[in-house]
Amino acid sequence: MTVPPDALRRTGGVPIKSIVFEREVIAARVREMGQEITAAFPDGDLLLLGLLKGSFVFMADLARAIERPLQVDFMVASSYGKGTTSSGNVRLLYDPATDLAGKHVLVVEDIIDTGRTLQRLLSLLAARQPASLGVCALLDKKIAAPIPEVRFVGFDCPPAFIVGYGLDHAENYRHLPFVAELG
Ligand code: IMP
Ligand code: MG
Repeated sequence: MTVPPDALRRTGGVPIKSIVFEREVIAARVREMGQEITAAFPDGDLLLLGLLKGSFVFMADLARAIERPLQVDFMVASSYGKGTTSSGNVRLLYDPATDLAGKHVLVVEDIIDTGRTLQRLLSLLAARQPASLGVCALLDKKIAAPIPEVRFVGFDCPPAFIVGYGLDHAENYRHLPFVAELG
């Protein structure tokens, strides 16, 4: 594994144990996912609904890889404090302003861990009568029982705690252009 020479500058000296997904690997997969999503929604209104903050980098790249009309909105839920394990307590801090009724709603998520955040949000969103409700996640730890709404997954990932490309630890490291496990 090659750790980029500028990595320590980006992490403030915290060493990187391993790069789980290099930026070029992510870019290639996100382009493929854009094609998959373009093909999967030939008709109707498509809304990408990003779960902040973790999805912000993925959302920006994914939206530009989709070659059909779409709209973008975000929602904010909070299930983690400063720890690295899921508490299962999901709080909605921002509810999307966009009307979901009649639209193909694709929730854009950074990573599926226990899946609890997603399960809670999906039942909330389903009540708003979208034409369809699906999930596109960059990473899946495969810990949760399969969630039927999860239609697009970038990569299966190891059950380690990982950061970068939007994912944080205590709000740090979201800006790393790769996905890494810290040392
Ligand atoms: P879940 O409800 O347990 O599936 O937690 C999902 C959320 O927890 C994700 O959207 C992330 O924000 C966060 N999360 C889960 N695993 C990791 C990780 O390995 N690194 C950083 N954030 C994570
Ligand atoms: Mg987080």
